[in-house]
Parts: sequence; structure tokens; C-alpha cells
Amino acid sequence: MTRSESEIAKMRLAGRVVAEMHEKLREAIRPGVTTSELNKVAAGVLEKRGARSNFLGYHGYPAVICTSPNNVIVHGIPGERRVVDGDIISLDCGAIVEGYHGDAAFTAPVGSVSAEALRLIEVTEHSLWAGIDAMWPGRRLHEIGKAVQEVAEQAGFSVVREYVGHAIGTEMHEDPQVPNYWPGAPGPMLKIGNVFAVEPMVNLGTPATRLLKDGWTVVTADGKLSAHFEHTIAVTEEGPVVLTVA
Ligand code: MF3
Ligand code: CO
Repeated sequence: MTRSESEIAKMRLAGRVVAEMHEKLREAIRPGVTTSELNKVAAGVLEKRGARSNFLGYHGYPAVICTSPNNVIVHGIPGERRVVDGDIISLDCGAIVEGYHGDAAFTAPVGSVSAEALRLIEVTEHSLWAGIDAMWPGRRLHEIGKAVQEVAEQAGFSVVREYVGHAIGTEMHEDPQVPNYWPGAPGPMLKIGNVFAVEPMVNLGTPATRLLKDGWTVVTADGKLSAHFEHTIAVTEEGPVVLTVA
């Protein structure tokens, strides 16, 4: 599906709200803060901007952000857990403005973290930008994942297979999926007006995942660290345009 310029303009508004959630969360992250306090910070931005949450109530999801520390890959539920010095934490945020969705995530260090953890964060963000750089009209969908995978694996890390990016528009999750790895066959040609949420999840150890009994929290099977970065990006005549920025 492709979106018109006016639709993309609305997604840009949603993206700006998501970027503001990120900004406020970066300020709020410190040793001792609980993940539910972080959720409140994000909810405050949605309220202030008159935006709706696309996470809250999604298949019964109980919060407006996902908070995923350390070995949690994605979809950690905010609660009374305090983040502590040396943790890393992934925060995934979304917003709906005038019926259009934005979705973006980042991973941040808490206090001082190991060099290995910092490198995981940097490589994962770099892998996202490598994927974004492939989003030109006429290139193919699989080139996004191929670029992500190359950066992550060159660094000695691994890419999660069970969870992927997605098209986004009037729903948070639209078809097609956007894998972060070579999917085994060439994908469709990218068109002007395609809008995708590209979201590499990169593990320090093996790519294997495990779902906790809460039905949401996805952790690394080996217990090692994982990082997650995501942006919502439009394919335009001039190349990729990131919508989830200030
Ligand atoms: N933002 C996640 C994604 O990138 C979805 C979160 S699911 C929710 O696809 F239930 F937590 F909202
Ligand atoms: Co997403």
C-alpha cells in the first residue's frame, strides 16, 4: 500500500509526538526510576499533544510504551521494576494523530554500562540506519533487512528472526512485514508512498527468543543482552524520510 503526501504529513505529526516521547524519556531515565514511571512520562506527552495511544489496548496490552531492560528483547510491560546503574533499557513508543500512526524505539544505557553493552547499542542503531539507507524507490524490500543483518553480524552480534518490522499507516501493523535479515527470496519493489517501521532487534549472543508467561515479554533464550531501535520511514522520490523525529 502507498500513502499520499497528505497522509504522510499526518504520520509526520504522529512521528513528532513519538519523538517527543523519546526526548522526555531520555531525560527521565536514571538509576532508580521504575518502568511504570517511564510509562507515565510517555502518557503525559500523548495527553499534552492530544494524541491517542496505539499500544494501550492493542490485543489487551496494558500500557502506552514497552519497557525492555537488558535480556528483554521487546514488549516488556511497565511495572514496579526499578532500572539500575549498568542496565540498558529499550523503550518502544507509538502515537496516533488524526487516525495516522507513528512507531519508534531506542535503547539507552542507564548510568555507566559495560563497553560491550555500549557497542551493542551503537551497532543496533547503526544497523537501523543502514536499513533506512536502502529505502529508495526502485530498490527491494529485502534489501532493508539484508543491510541491517550485515551490520549486526559484521559486529559479531545476531538478529532476531521471530519479530520483524512492518508497514504502518492507519493501523500500527500493516502488511508487508519488514524482516531484519535476508528472507530467502527477493522482496517487492519499494514504491513512493510506502511507509515502514523498520526495527532491528539485535542480540549479543544467539538470536533465539523465549516468550514469558505474561504472554508479552520476549527475552533472549541465552539470557544475554538485546537492543532495539526503530523508526517510521516514508519512501519518497528524494529517498527515505524519517517521520519519527522532532
Ligand atoms: N511497537 C511495537 C512494534 O514495533 C508493537 C508494540 S505491541 C504493544 O511493532 F502491544 F505493545 F503495543
Ligand atoms: Co513497530
